[in-house]
Amino acid sequence: PSSSTLKGKTVLVTAGPTQEKLDPVRYFTNHSSGKMGYAIAEQAIKRGANVILISGPTTIKPPNGVQLENVTSAKDMFEKVIECFDFADVVIKTAAVADYRPKLVHEQKIKKSPNDWSIEMERTTDILKTLGERKEKQLLVGFAAESEQLEEYAKDKLERKNLDMIVTNSIVQPGAGFKADTNIVTIFNKNGTRLDLPLMSKHEVANYLLNEVEEVIKDSEK
Ligand code: PMT
Repeated sequence: PSSSTLKGKTVLVTAGPTQEKLDPVRYFTNHSSGKMGYAIAEQAIKRGANVILISGPTTIKPPNGVQLENVTSAKDMFEKVIECFDFADVVIKTAAVADYRPKLVHEQKIKKSPNDWSIEMERTTDILKTLGERKEKQLLVGFAAESEQLEEYAKDKLERKNLDMIVTNSIVQPGAGFKADTNIVTIFNKNGTRLDLPLMSKHEVANYLLNEVEEVIKDSEK
């Protein structure tokens, strides 16, 4: 770790789900546990980085030594990420951020009626895309959770959102994606290389990913 190029660098990691409030008892969310992002944060700490971990609601313990910033909604996450972005050398966006939120948030509990009910949803801001537009020195890593056409969607996101790297995980393969302690990922680099990793723990995935990140930093510092 003493020779790590991440030593002394600031790594911003987002993790976990977001919660989008509908009324005082109901919200929209997803299956993210935070495990993948927390594993990346922990391994980055071990390499001597300063780690800012911006986390949606999870039940797991944050790694020792991180600067933990708890957020709830996609809007909270957007604001906190923007606030920290200028300090970051590397940004890894593992969080599963809601793409839609209820258009109207009700202050009182919505009472049930005998009728069906539809809820109007509006788009949230795409944080990753905003960072891609704003980035200067930062190395930007996105994640993509897909159930089909992984490679095509990943390459499209890599280009469209101006990323340096994207990590795809299938959410339909056993042992990969949400909640598990393991994952099966492919890392696409904007230089065209790809790394297909077999089933392994999320901590091992984090190490392979940080190795790739270190390679890119080394190349840029040459
Ligand atoms: O937390 P775990 O249970 O360990 O699960 C890990 C994981 C499956 C959540 C993780 O490995 C993962 O794939 N995270 C990204 C999930 C996701 O939301 O993918 P996406 O294809 O919807 O989004 C693509 C990228 O855009 C992501 O980097 C996401 O952080 C970002 N995004 C999405 C929406 C939005 N409004 N703003 C964003 O920045």
